[in-house]
Amino acid sequence: MRKRRLALLILTIFVLGIMVGCGSDASMSKKVELRDNPVKSASDYASGTGNATSNDSGQNNNTSSDKLKVGFIQTANESGWRAAHTQSMQDTFGSGGYTYTFVDGQGEQSVQISAMEKLIDEKYDVIVIAPIVEDGWDEVLGKAKDAGIPVIIVDRMVKADSSLYSCWVGSDFAKEGTDAGKWLVENNGTTEEQNIVVLEGTIGSSAQLGRKSGFEGVISAYDNYKILASESGDFDKAKGKELMKKYLDTYNDIDVIVTHNDNMAYGVIECIKEEGKNPADYTIISFDGEANAFKEMIAGNIDVDVECNPLQGPTVESLIKKILAGETVDKEQYMEEGVYPASTAKDEVANRKY
Ligand code: AHR
Repeated sequence: MRKRRLALLILTIFVLGIMVGCGSDASMSKKVELRDNPVKSASDYASGTGNATSNDSGQNNNTSSDKLKVGFIQTANESGWRAAHTQSMQDTFGSGGYTYTFVDGQGEQSVQISAMEKLIDEKYDVIVIAPIVEDGWDEVLGKAKDAGIPVIIVDRMVKADSSLYSCWVGSDFAKEGTDAGKWLVENNGTTEEQNIVVLEGTIGSSAQLGRKSGFEGVISAYDNYKILASESGDFDKAKGKELMKKYLDTYNDIDVIVTHNDNMAYGVIECIKEEGKNPADYTIISFDGEANAFKEMIAGNIDVDVECNPLQGPTVESLIKKILAGETVDKEQYMEEGVYPASTAKDEVANRKY
């Protein structure tokens, strides 16, 4: 009797271990979190507290079996933009008609892949994923396809056979880079020497690849533009600040600073001020279009912000409805986005939704 009870106990512990995602293989060394309230506000990120903690409030919020089970695998909580992206999905799927599960990818592709395998095993109806990097998705997308689960890629793209997923919703990152380059050439001209430092996003992400190639494609046509350095700050405020310090220590002739997101721009501005310099003495170009960045434009600290639209939840929902109704949808769905020079900031800041 005692032995049977012990065996039962061991079995229960084993099953629970699997359920909470505590497998011992390397890809599961970071716990896959299923939770419904991970959002930090954009102002948390601007003030630098956004990356510090994660809100671990529990499991999926609705387990009624007659509702569509939608699982969303996010990259991480790296920026105010990301908070707005997460919030948009939460607003769309977090109440009412869906059983919605949010997974924080914790900045690791292996965590995202493990999460996707878990959602496949748990027979979700639809999986939405924001991939951290473009490469390395074929195998797990193949598993979802074999299980008959539609996958919608959001934000960044994947380099994979497009028959493996239903569609992608996101930004034209190369156009964002091109828009930034065109604005710079129009604003700073084609004669005076312009030395540029660039703070790139996470290496291998579509946002980093597209913004870099689009921007360089434009300015490389002009002899007066020279990139002194271009390194990754990982879309992170603290890393951006550190990188800016290195740039300021190395170069005393910087004219233009390009930062691949607003989050790093906040770090850049802080660093410049701490070094006793004035952000207004540089041309600062940023991406995302957060309300906080508009405030920085009004203060004279950013010169132009190229929008990247995170409010993708409603588009994803309408695509899910079409896909499940058997309709064919376009493989690539681009969000609408604009370019905002500082001169527009005062009028526009009140309209910003993130
Ligand atoms: O992929 C979109 C980028 O990722 C945003 O520019 C950035 O802020 C985010 O973290």
